[in-house]
Amino acid sequence: MTFLFNSDAVRGAVFAKAFASELPDLPFSMDPATVDPDAVRYLITWTIPQDLARYRNLEMVFSIGAGVDQFTMTDLPDSVKVVRMVEDGIVRMMQEYATLAVLTLHRQMPAYRAQQADRLWRPLQQPQAAERRVGVLGLGVLGQAVLDRLKPFGFPLSGWSRSPRRLDGVTCHHGADGLDAMLADTDILIVLLPLTPDTRGFLDARLLAKLPRGAALVHTGRGPQLDHAALVSALDDGHLSGAVVDVTDPEPLPPDHPFWAHPKIVLTPHVASITQPDSAARAVITNLRRHFAGQDPVGLIDRRRGY
Ligand code: NDP
Ligand code: OXD
Repeated sequence: MTFLFNSDAVRGAVFAKAFASELPDLPFSMDPATVDPDAVRYLITWTIPQDLARYRNLEMVFSIGAGVDQFTMTDLPDSVKVVRMVEDGIVRMMQEYATLAVLTLHRQMPAYRAQQADRLWRPLQQPQAAERRVGVLGLGVLGQAVLDRLKPFGFPLSGWSRSPRRLDGVTCHHGADGLDAMLADTDILIVLLPLTPDTRGFLDARLLAKLPRGAALVHTGRGPQLDHAALVSALDDGHLSGAVVDVTDPEPLPPDHPFWAHPKIVLTPHVASITQPDSAARAVITNLRRHFAGQDPVGLIDRRRGY
């Protein structure tokens, strides 16, 4: 029985050390060329290797990241469990990024940057946090963690998910019926939805039009969820006041893409959150122990739902 690590060597070295100390009886390999394919029961990877069929006894595939949309599920035998990364480092970094983005928009930093470029010293009228409603699409691990971190600022908070949720201090909406009500009450919308057939293209002109005039967007889900042209036109016609965008389609954007130079867009190169090797190795080891004990791993994907 072998655990195959198929990602970068720096992270691999951290995993190898953790596995040697915590699961010394489970052989750990970083080299598909020398591993016995029949021995590989567990694989961690970002994308599905083309020669996956070699691993006839595979039981679990772990994603090195929180998302699993990069996997084509039909490439995986039905018997294989697919597990996304749920680990403290990803959560902490997303809390930092979302807080930074919300405060950037709330305190009108893009407008002040533009004023600075024009050598203009002019205070803008500043709404208070209690008047700035923040809503999160996706109330999973990351959406909930972000809402928790935003609580002390005093923004009225809301969230939206597929199934009903109850969260302290957060107005929760769910399903198609709950979406319009949530959008109508949101000044800063944070997207933390997985990319699935239901969420591809979800952030389109119609959805953006349901936000109040002057609202802003923080996009940290996946690039193909957002209609890029719809965002640019909502910003240009003043319906939206700003956007912080971490994920795009494609990544990277071509040099002539309008996002690069747009004065109302803050663009980052898919860095909102990054898997941290120490905490990720601990999370995978915990999941393997759960698996050995006959329990489901944390982050088990429902393959029909796609997340
Ligand atoms: P989870 O699986 O824990 O949560 C997903 C949430 O989205 C759930 O609340 C789920 O609803 C909701 N959801 C899914 N589909 C729908 C739908 N069709 N309608 C309404 N709600 C829906 O995921 P995480 O919180 O761990 O991660 C979310 C995403 O964040 C990742 O999939 C990835 O795309 C993105 N991400 C981005 C990173 C970056 O650096 N930019 C880094 C890490 C993640 P329900 O609760 O009912 O199941
Ligand atoms: C992830 C990501 O899914 O970095 O972890 O987007």
